[in-house]
Amino acid sequence: MVNSYKAAADIDVLTSSFPIPGYGVVPINAFVIKGSEPVLVDTGAAVQSAEFMSALRSVIDPADLRWLWLTHTDFDHIGCLPQLLAENPRLKVITTFLGVGIMGLTTSPLPLDRVYLVNPGEKVTVGNRTLTAFKPPVFDNPCTTGFYDEKSGVLFSSDCFGAMLQSVPQNAADLSDADLRDGQVFWATIDSPWLAKVDRGMFARELDGVRKMAPKMVLSSHLPPAPGHMIDRLLASLEAAPGAQPFVGPNQAALEQMLQAMTAVPQ
Ligand SMILES: [Fe+2]
Ligand SMILES: [Fe+2]
Repeated sequence: MVNSYKAAADIDVLTSSFPIPGYGVVPINAFVIKGSEPVLVDTGAAVQSAEFMSALRSVIDPADLRWLWLTHTDFDHIGCLPQLLAENPRLKVITTFLGVGIMGLTTSPLPLDRVYLVNPGEKVTVGNRTLTAFKPPVFDNPCTTGFYDEKSGVLFSSDCFGAMLQSVPQNAADLSDADLRDGQVFWATIDSPWLAKVDRGMFARELDGVRKMAPKMVLSSHLPPAPGHMIDRLLASLEAAPGAQPFVGPNQAALEQMLQAMTAVPQ
């Protein structure tokens, strides 16, 4: 099920909750930025493409989209990409050289006349907005590029700041301190296991760079919209992540136990 709600007057959230058995749920968000040249940020999960398209149609006619900012090429971000490109010949995909390369290994390569390449620090003008690309401090795919929208003051952070939750509110401010912190740290250990190896001082300076951006809101692909006053809490969770227990998934014995429990016939 993909739902929609507003994060701001001109920004819609398209969201679904993906359950991870035994752990919780992870929200999967895409965003529609309305304006003279509307932008879609990511395209939902491949497994939910039909639901995503109908939720998208409820907030905008996909034919009106001019830009698709593809934060990266993971399956929870590219679900409707081929369909949107086929349906809307004007749509251009903002991505990176690596993003084009990775999509070139799929059955839906990006035609070069449909892409607009950005690197961190570069600006893209989309109608009455200027979007500045940035490399989030935490990411799970080398082609990841988030951006800052000067008009709204919103930071689109891709997977960074995501959280494993038990239930998903429409505002991150409605999460308790513990749920937010534990959920963010746990997600970070799953999504970016390399954090356990980072130089803490260098990582703290990266996080400071985000603090200095002072966003009015953070829109993560895997966290409900977070108002700007939460930025110190969001960054503190990430700062704690390198010291957290690294994630180890269930092994074959645990899987067999789970399957047995699922298929056990009640006596
Ligand atoms: Fe990802
Ligand atoms: Fe993701």
